[in-house]
Amino acid sequence: MNDNWVFHNGKSISRVREDFPILQHKLNLKGGIAPVDLVYLDTAATAQKPLQVIDAVNRYYTRQNSNVHRALHTLGEEATAVYEGTREKIRSFINALHRHEIVFTKNTTESINLLASSYGSSFKPGDEVLLTEMEHHSNLVPWQLLSEKTGCTLKFIPIDQNGELELDQLDQLLTERTVFVGVMHVSNVFGTINNIELIIKKAHALNIPVLIDGAQSSPHMQIDVQALDCDFFAFSGHKLYGPMGIGVLYGKEEYLESMPPFMGGGDMIRSVKLTGSTWNELPWKFEAGTPNVGGAAGLGSAIDYINELSFESICNYEDMLTEYAGKLLSGIKNIKLYGPDGDRAGVFSFTHDDLHPHDMAQFLDRFGIAVRAGHHCAQPAMRKLKVSSMARASLAFYNTRSEIEYLVEKINAAGEYFSNGI
Ligand SMILES: Cc1ncc(COP(=O)(O)O)c(C=O)c1O
Repeated sequence: MNDNWVFHNGKSISRVREDFPILQHKLNLKGGIAPVDLVYLDTAATAQKPLQVIDAVNRYYTRQNSNVHRALHTLGEEATAVYEGTREKIRSFINALHRHEIVFTKNTTESINLLASSYGSSFKPGDEVLLTEMEHHSNLVPWQLLSEKTGCTLKFIPIDQNGELELDQLDQLLTERTVFVGVMHVSNVFGTINNIELIIKKAHALNIPVLIDGAQSSPHMQIDVQALDCDFFAFSGHKLYGPMGIGVLYGKEEYLESMPPFMGGGDMIRSVKLTGSTWNELPWKFEAGTPNVGGAAGLGSAIDYINELSFESICNYEDMLTEYAGKLLSGIKNIKLYGPDGDRAGVFSFTHDDLHPHDMAQFLDRFGIAVRAGHHCAQPAMRKLKVSSMARASLAFYNTRSEIEYLVEKINAAGEYFSNGI
């Protein structure tokens, strides 16, 4: 099958791939094996970066580096413009109402820790936080820590064997004691796209705020936080083709206003006396200390890059790739593919009857194919399905149908290699 997709701005898929320097380099494998082309199928862990993003970070450090908000000099103003400019780009990207509803963090994990520590600080014994059994550890452990500290109780929407939420239990699980709901939008294990619209609607009917973990959805689905009406939305820049070390917590103004600071230090204060302090306005109340301005420069550029290709065009291409991958992978002998059959994201976890997922990942690596193997930071979900480890291939718009065919060919080869006992 040829790869002839053209994105909205007229760029072909092969031209888009040229924007990603890492895809142009041969991979040096261990053990004296000749260098091979990289087939990167681990975007759910972190996305590759286009040159435009790398250039923006480089430009920041070579020409714009300065601390933000404090300096009166030209460079300081320029750095502040870069930093706050990205905030506006993100506001527009997720259609938040106000720029000050966008808080910069390190990543999704820090966004959720901020929320649990700050919003959750008023929880008390008897209060219930509703999560799901499929959450990534980063939307589970912060709430466990909170539960230990405040005595609140954690409850969970169960998952079935397809890696889908049993939403028929939602009405029972939401009670007058529920004070918060946190749910992932897209599963990093099963590729399930959760019906967050329903969850938000039911929670709001009881005046319960909802956090959406958008780590896996924000790079692959158009997000409109106003249309979703979620109260908080967390995501990571590095999964959105931006640099590592910058993430976002969106929160509705009314909630962020009412929340105490997460960390204390410079920039988050209005005035400081030896005996006490008052806080800066939103969003800086939650951004203590020198932020990751270089990261913001790169993330802003990543959003520009996505907008240039058009997100709609990216989603259409990824939908086509996902359907193709689902069809091919589900046809492989001795493979168990996890997750829903129908509408799903481009995250495919699988096990093979004859070999351990780690052996599968290592075998594929010899051919330059990067997939992940392990528990995918979702041990409770794995335990529920009675699987200790899965291999996982995950897609992005820089992947091609040929790469999926190559993956399938090498999964088959791995099966033969191991079942022949060589
Ligand atoms: C659904 C989900 N939530 C949260 C995270 C944590 O992201 P980060 O490590 O960037 O904080 C991940 C990472 O894979 C994820 O897939």
